Amino acid sequence: MSDTRPIEAAAPPVVVARDLRQTYKVRRGLLRPPAELQAVRGVTFELCRGKTLAIVGESGCGKSTLARMVSLIEPPSAGQLTLLGLDSTSGDAASRATLRRAVQLVFQNPYGSLNPRKKIGAILEAPLAINTNLTATERAASAREMLALVGLRPEHYDRYPHMFSGGQRQRIAIARALMLKPALVVADEPVSALDVSIQAQVLNLLADLQRELGLAYLFISHDLGVVRHIAHDVLVMYLGSAVEQGKKRVIFAQPLHPYTRALLGSTPAIAGAAGTLPRVILKGELPSPLNPPTGCVFSTRCPHAIERCRVEPPALRTIADRDVACHLAEQFIEPASGSPQHLQP
Ligand SMILES: Nc1ncnc2c1ncn2[C@@H]1O[C@H](COP(=O)(O)OP(=O)(O)OP(=O)(O)O)[C@@H](O)[C@H]1O
Ligand SMILES: [Mg+2]
Repeated sequence: MSDTRPIEAAAPPVVVARDLRQTYKVRRGLLRPPAELQAVRGVTFELCRGKTLAIVGESGCGKSTLARMVSLIEPPSAGQLTLLGLDSTSGDAASRATLRRAVQLVFQNPYGSLNPRKKIGAILEAPLAINTNLTATERAASAREMLALVGLRPEHYDRYPHMFSGGQRQRIAIARALMLKPALVVADEPVSALDVSIQAQVLNLLADLQRELGLAYLFISHDLGVVRHIAHDVLVMYLGSAVEQGKKRVIFAQPLHPYTRALLGSTPAIAGAAGTLPRVILKGELPSPLNPPTGCVFSTRCPHAIERCRVEPPALRTIADRDVACHLAEQFIEPASGSPQHLQP
């Protein structure tokens, strides 16, 4: 696989997303005009080769919508998305095809995405048959090489998806995603359906593959325990907006947005590492994205909200080495204490 590491050190970030937005039109019955649902309300980030950016947040906050935009399944309704230095919206068909190959997806449910009637070998070779001029022999060799790379055995080449466990199926889905040597893998809850012990194995595999191949991961998860193991950077979303983003090390050691603090405080394994985080049970329901709160999107559930929060949307601003969108963020900065534990990488 040595020919999979050609990108030089000076390469541009794999992903540059600027103010990405996605608005859907939602029908509300026959007589009323369709409503606009802002699923992603302006998200900005960069992701470099060999790095993992985790997108975290509750159900419905826009994680998968962001994943669909970055993986070119859906164009953003506004904003700019640059992949490998190329603008994803403009450009000729050939460069768009190149970008499509450079971004591959791994989903939560590998069984749903693996054709039950095809053997694993054929599943892995399909992307090569469509996108390359390799001969059948070369495609088979490449598939066998990939099986080994993801920790499966040569005899698995001739088996069907139903003959594998959940963890093995996710290895197959990862293998298929890597067949075209992508620069970026967008993984949407890739281990959420797996037992905890199997989760760790798949996360270790992803980390090994990243080191070996220089892959960038956009890693979507609602589980901060998982994110803690795999992410370099973290972007916390709430109701379509980024509320806090930066280095995982920094945010997990001292979260400054009340929503991040609540998420981390309710994850026991992490609450300890983050020092003295109170355990906050968030009150109330997640507001409807069709009718978001005025001011700060989190103000209706925030235990600290003041009048200003209900009227004035907080901008993302840089405080203590991360970006945070909260008028009150300064009040959560604690004097330096012991060094954070267990927070590699
Ligand atoms: N095609 C669509 N048409 C209309 N609304 C949509 C569409 N896709 C997503 N939405 C809405 O956009 C919002 C964000 O959805 P999204 O699936 O991105 O959330 P998520 O963070 O991935 O949630 P989960 O953790 O449950 O997977 C939700 O309110 C959802 O109902
Ligand atoms: Mg989702």
